[in-house]
Amino acid sequence: MENSGPPADQDAGADAANSGAAPRQPGQYSFVVAASRLPVDRTQGPDGKHEWRASPGGLVTALEPVMRAAEGAWIGWPGSPGDPPEPFDTNGMHLVSIGLSAAEVRDYYEGFCNATLWPLYHDVIAQPEFHREWWDAYVRVNRRYAEAVAAEAAEGATVWVHDYQLQLVPGMVRSLRSDVRIGHFTHIPFPGYEIFAQLPWRKQIVQGLLGADLLGFQRQGDATNFLRACRRSAGLTTHGSYVWVPDTPVGDDDSRRRRLTARRSTGGRSVRAAAFPISIDTRGFGEIATRPGVQARAQEIREALGKPETVLLGVDRLDYTKGILHRLKAYGEVLSEGRLSPPAAVLVQVASPSRERVEHYKRLRDEVEGTVGRINGEFAEVGIPAVHYLHQSYPREEMAALYLAADVMLVTPLRDGMNLVAKEYVACRHDEDGALVLSEFTGAADELTGAFVVNPHDIEGLKDAIVRAATVSPAEARRRMRSMRRRVLDNDVAHWAETYLRALGQVPARASSGPPPGEHAHESAPAGPARAS
Ligand code: F6P
Repeated sequence: MENSGPPADQDAGADAANSGAAPRQPGQYSFVVAASRLPVDRTQGPDGKHEWRASPGGLVTALEPVMRAAEGAWIGWPGSPGDPPEPFDTNGMHLVSIGLSAAEVRDYYEGFCNATLWPLYHDVIAQPEFHREWWDAYVRVNRRYAEAVAAEAAEGATVWVHDYQLQLVPGMVRSLRSDVRIGHFTHIPFPGYEIFAQLPWRKQIVQGLLGADLLGFQRQGDATNFLRACRRSAGLTTHGSYVWVPDTPVGDDDSRRRRLTARRSTGGRSVRAAAFPISIDTRGFGEIATRPGVQARAQEIREALGKPETVLLGVDRLDYTKGILHRLKAYGEVLSEGRLSPPAAVLVQVASPSRERVEHYKRLRDEVEGTVGRINGEFAEVGIPAVHYLHQSYPREEMAALYLAADVMLVTPLRDGMNLVAKEYVACRHDEDGALVLSEFTGAADELTGAFVVNPHDIEGLKDAIVRAATVSPAEARRRMRSMRRRVLDNDVAHWAETYLRALGQVPARASSGPPPGEHAHESAPAGPARAS
């Protein structure tokens, strides 16, 4: 999941000092979130002093309102190596920092999270690397998070663990605190088994996740892939959307008969794996877009671009999963075929800096910047670039102005768990104008059916979709945008969190004695070729 940018800066440290309310003691929080990052980043100001700034992730935007309402505790990494600061309270949240050493940033964050799991879970678009020392760091850091959760959670608390960086935490928390209810949500895709099977530690990952009571995924396909991984890599039995986790582990080599006997004779739990598509703060984002200052800024942007007839916009983290190169290739060909031409058409590509020390990201930046240079070299005129490339991050107000200024929004990832930029664009378009070109390989494509849906690998199809979106009639644009707005207004982030937490609350009490009523059992797949699931 991605979204565009941070809300206004805040000094969380000062906020804590001035809040006046006595912070609650550890072990008293009835709602605990564990996520890779804190909702604030520790940065160094121009005077060398440390300050806190709201961090740019989509998850922060998603959970902040829920956290404030529940007065929960949030456990995460402040974003730079070194000793963690003391816990502090801000905006109704208790923030507990996890410290990562420089070696752990390299081996856990840049290594196992972003050079092993990230490419593996995104269809191997880039080659994942498997290193045992990275895995060891992943286990060590996950344990640190789990211990912090166990220390903060009150008796019977609800714990919500997030994403691929923390897949071992549910199992570790369960072994430390069997009284708490544990949810996990995977924000990125969960890959098909043939890809997942490459991971040398696939069984440990499956077992770690199965420490949860409820496993949330973006799309039904992700949940289905996970259920298959349970059968194939851990020899477990699934029942519709439930996995049966026996108290006595079943050995890899046990026969089907022994596994069946084990299921009848041992106790265990059922874990549910299901889709809960995440969304955005639709009304909050929409409200920003109605502000006169933001609307004036949108006009100003169009004027600065030379008042083109058509503004096309891409907004992405600079990541190889986002399909930026495919988009640029298609756009370059559209220009060279004269189907669109500057200065009447202008592309603005925002590519916010990300994971800049990871090799694949360094290479991608060079390729994207080289491609933008080539397109501009061929099609720009003095003072009129064909592509405006911005390697920067912007606050939400500027993003909303860009969305309002854009006639066509290009969201063309090769694979994306959800893609919240697509939803943000729709949320801003009160005028029911504007067209969205959307990759079918995003979670958002399941919901935003009013988009011009494309396969980004099909460059001819992508070119046609870009031209169709740029030349769509106002009536068709309105019909499409209206249906997308309805969807994004109905399923906003509050609805997502409520739906997930309600489902987590319905999990039967600990150590249930079998699959829930009405579910039909499928036995685990035998070794050998995969069974369709
Ligand atoms: O989409 C997964 C995610 O972890 C988001 O939560 C986050 O915004 C993005 O990837 C970038 O993450 P990071 O900067 O922590 O690597």
